Amino acid sequence: MRRMRRRIIQPLLRETELRKTDLIAPVFVDESISAPLPIASMPGQFRHPTEGVADYCEHLWNAGIRAAILFGVPAAKDSEATEAYASGGVVQRAVRSIKERLPQMVVATDVCACEYTDHGHCGIVGETADGPDLLNDPSLALMVRIAVSHAESGADIVAPSCMLDGMVRAIRQALDAAGFQNVLIVSYSSKFASALYGPFRDAADSGFSFGDRTTYQICPGNAREAVMESELDAAEGADILMVKPAGIYLDILLSLKEFGLPIAAYQVSGEYAMIKAAAERGWLDERAVALESLIAIKRAGADLIITYFAQDAARWLDEEQ
Ligand code: PBG
Ligand code: ZN
Repeated sequence: MRRMRRRIIQPLLRETELRKTDLIAPVFVDESISAPLPIASMPGQFRHPTEGVADYCEHLWNAGIRAAILFGVPAAKDSEATEAYASGGVVQRAVRSIKERLPQMVVATDVCACEYTDHGHCGIVGETADGPDLLNDPSLALMVRIAVSHAESGADIVAPSCMLDGMVRAIRQALDAAGFQNVLIVSYSSKFASALYGPFRDAADSGFSFGDRTTYQICPGNAREAVMESELDAAEGADILMVKPAGIYLDILLSLKEFGLPIAAYQVSGEYAMIKAAAERGWLDERAVALESLIAIKRAGADLIITYFAQDAARWLDEEQ
């Protein structure tokens, strides 16, 4: 085996390569601020004002990042998430300004209600036999409105992240009926109820006021259920499947190959924060660990990676050339 690791031979035999076009940068847009606001638990990440988000995306573009996924922080929340589908809403305005500035940039939007509801859950909440909970079908109608409003604003991809049953079918039907046959659906199809979303909930102000998300997101120990979730979303018409979080769910990534669809992996806020925190203490080499984490996610089967390291990774990859 050592012959194959001679320095001049190694590049010939490299099995997995990370490319800038594999990366999607998460972008937080806050309609209540006028200058970028640092996110404390995610060093190097900011909320951007609606007017400034195209500038930020231009930096991403110039670094070689070709795709962004937007998360909105609205000025007002209510129990029905009405700001989530307002045509003048924060994400809708952000999409328009980015597509105007950078028509070639792929703009994806997170389709969920948790940033827009006063209770912080991902859709409509109501009383059930088990107490208050996320209601499935009433929330579907909300997701459809959100997705169509994002498409109307010019989004290329909508990414439902609420883990409702039937969300992909409902959104696909509505997009087609509204003339958006070419808008892709990236489903957060295998999304676990993970404690690694902690920093994101600061970033997007989407923490919940009661309960948790375990009645809609998947229990971390359940692999069969996670594969079934993606299988159902594939059958409902998802264009791209997703595993989230990424790095500690590589077994699930590998299992989704059988569906033959492209797969995205979301390296989430907590995965980023762990590497950043250890690097700040001098305990880990940030660049080396971040690139290793990304190559491992690709090796396991991800075609695309949503990562807060996108901009830095683009620079690191350039430096390696
Ligand atoms: C919205 C959503 C979340 C994330 C992406 N979309 C939070 C959640 O489900 O609670 C998490 C992303 C991250 O942690 O980086 N539902
Ligand atoms: Zn949500």
